[in-house]
Amino acid sequence: MNKEVWLSPMEAVTDLAFRKLCINHGADMTFTEMIRADAIVRGNKVTLSLIDTHIPLKQGIQLLVSKPAVLQKALQKIDFINIIGVDLNFGCPSLDVIGKGKGHALLKRLTRMRDLLFTLKKYSPVPCGIKFRLSV
Ligand SMILES: Cc1cc2nc3c(=O)[nH]c(=O)nc-3n(C[C@H](O)[C@H](O)[C@H](O)COP(=O)(O)O)c2cc1C
Repeated sequence: MNKEVWLSPMEAVTDLAFRKLCINHGADMTFTEMIRADAIVRGNKVTLSLIDTHIPLKQGIQLLVSKPAVLQKALQKIDFINIIGVDLNFGCPSLDVIGKGKGHALLKRLTRMRDLLFTLKKYSPVPCGIKFRLSV
């Protein structure tokens, strides 16, 4: 069986240096921390700096989003150089995130989740997926 080791996205942890370290120690795939898609669309400089994919690594970005139109705009704005995957965060349990209908809250918003997935599949130029919790 082909086994792969993937580094989970972790806020304030999985920056470029940490991802490179993990690749050097055998990780097969890594991710940025969750990046807020609406802030990408607004051009927020701090948020854009989280897309720190300056060197070729086995790395994807994780996006936090609840609106398909925002996801579409963010995917069209991101420079996909050195990014080989996109993951949507459907699991973050933070009250701040859930209160905005994002992260884990999407497991109770199935129509919205479906619309996000269709948008992701249509507009992502790279393979994509989701990370979610097993229960609501
Ligand atoms: C400090 C920290 C930050 C995290 N940030 C994210 C995140 O940005 N996106 C995400 O999907 N999960 C995030 N997680 C959850 C992890 O990706 C992972 O799912 C969780 O730690 C469970 O994995 P484990 O059982 O191997 O510890 C975070 C976890 C920690 C500890």
